[in-house]
Amino acid sequence: MTDTHSHLNDERFSEDLAEVIERAFAEGVRRINVVGYSVESSERAVEIAEAYHGVFAVVGLHPYEAERYTPSSLRSLERLLDHPKVVAVGEIGLDYYRGPEDRESQKRLFREQIEIALRNSLPVVLHVRDAFQDVVEIVGGFPEGKFLFHSFSGSPDDMDVILTHENWYVSFSGMITFLENVRKAAEKAPRDRTVVETDAPYLAPVPKRGKRNEPAFVKYTLRELARVWGVGVVEAEGMTDGNAESFFRYGE
Ligand code: NI
Repeated sequence: MTDTHSHLNDERFSEDLAEVIERAFAEGVRRINVVGYSVESSERAVEIAEAYHGVFAVVGLHPYEAERYTPSSLRSLERLLDHPKVVAVGEIGLDYYRGPEDRESQKRLFREQIEIALRNSLPVVLHVRDAFQDVVEIVGGFPEGKFLFHSFSGSPDDMDVILTHENWYVSFSGMITFLENVRKAAEKAPRDRTVVETDAPYLAPVPKRGKRNEPAFVKYTLRELARVWGVGVVEAEGMTDGNAESFFRYGE
């Protein structure tokens, strides 16, 4: 299994990080991505990736940073991209639910980071909240890029849009275990471009809802995806692991 999106850089893991990673590998997780959302959390993601075999970093500035970032934040970010354990730029995107009200500043930060990713031949992990149309419009302007819609929570119609672009991937989190619209969308998800994640410490799946989420729990999301697809868990694991390998820049 591959947990393509966790925030082990969150302070909620500072006490027992090693145990959390050990539990995940004991459950059969082979790779864990630690995803940044600011310069500091991205640097911390790289630090954690350096310390553990099978752990990788995704670095980027979340839309929450849109009114705070400076040219120097982007330079600090770009400096991280040469690191062999950095496998994508993210999570970046648009958040019209909780992000800064100035949508233009969000779009500017988003575009600048897509350009940085492409300049460094890296794929992009997208954060999308109440902004699917605008994200599609911006990302559609970069046909040479590879994009992953993280923690997909859109409608089956949104999934149709993703299906029409062969470089667009989709990732399911624990939401697939408790939201019917996400299950419906997953039925249509492209079998060769779908991966799974926890988004730990958030979004714990059934039967762990309400608890701190952790990479070991990605198995519940994988099981539900396999059920929705009507395939065995081992088959779904092989498919999603292979898709993660074709999307991220894993060097090992
Ligand atoms: Ni996240």
